[in-house]
Amino acid sequence: MDRFDFAIDLIKEAGKLILENSNKITEIKHKGVIDLVTNVDLKSEEFIVNKIKENFPKDAVLAEEGDVIVNNNGIWIIDPIDGTTNFAHNFPHYAISIAYGEDKNNMSMGFVYDPVLGELFYGVKGAGAFLNNKKITVSSIDILTESLLATGFSYDVHSSGLNLNEFTKMIKKVQGIRRAGSAALDLCYVAAGRFEGYWEYNLKPWDIAAGQLIVKEALGEVTGIDGGKLDIYGDNILAANGYINSEMIKVLTKE
Ligand code: IPD
Ligand code: CA
Ligand code: CA
Repeated sequence: MDRFDFAIDLIKEAGKLILENSNKITEIKHKGVIDLVTNVDLKSEEFIVNKIKENFPKDAVLAEEGDVIVNNNGIWIIDPIDGTTNFAHNFPHYAISIAYGEDKNNMSMGFVYDPVLGELFYGVKGAGAFLNNKKITVSSIDILTESLLATGFSYDVHSSGLNLNEFTKMIKKVQGIRRAGSAALDLCYVAAGRFEGYWEYNLKPWDIAAGQLIVKEALGEVTGIDGGKLDIYGDNILAANGYINSEMIKVLTKE
């Protein structure tokens, strides 16, 4: 089986496992004051990583809950549940994010699966972005006051206040801002034209590796918040439909 078909099966199976265990959260650990990990996050990661090891033993893996396998082949970047706080509160908005790149700076495939809605987003470099096998593209709204945006607040927001000033500035310029709690889905919603744009600070590669490719393949634009080239190992991202990116950057960095 090639990696594309393998990843589609894998992410759907992981979604099934998460749903089956959604009423079996037996352990919630704190990685920080408000940063959680449940037994189901760990189970999902173990399942995904073991399948990769069995099928592609030479591939490298970078996964949120600690699995790091260094190798010379391609790399898989995995978030076993993106939206853990939602998951732990029974708020039905979370996803699995899996990206694969032949080299670690260049993802060639990205998959994000929302098991609650049964929505599978994916993007393949050069071949487009899809939601349940139908091609998706970003929205064509080019006016900030008509734009619905998404953002998020990092787990150190209690102490750092990071993104609060930026949020205050942006909310006065747009139609609305949502904080739904899954960076991977926020990016996919930009790709599908549900949000016009999204920004967030202090992210990790597993939050964005798949979603950023899906936005690009849906003809959106993705950069750092300063407008420079996106580094998935850097810590911030700005993704939008290509029409409002520069205005968003201006509001966040200059006003
Ligand atoms: C988090 C979610 C959230 C974002 C946080 C992420 P997790 O990932 O994507 O939307 O605001 O910054 O860490 O912890 O649920 O995998
Ligand atoms: Ca995450
Ligand atoms: Ca996670």
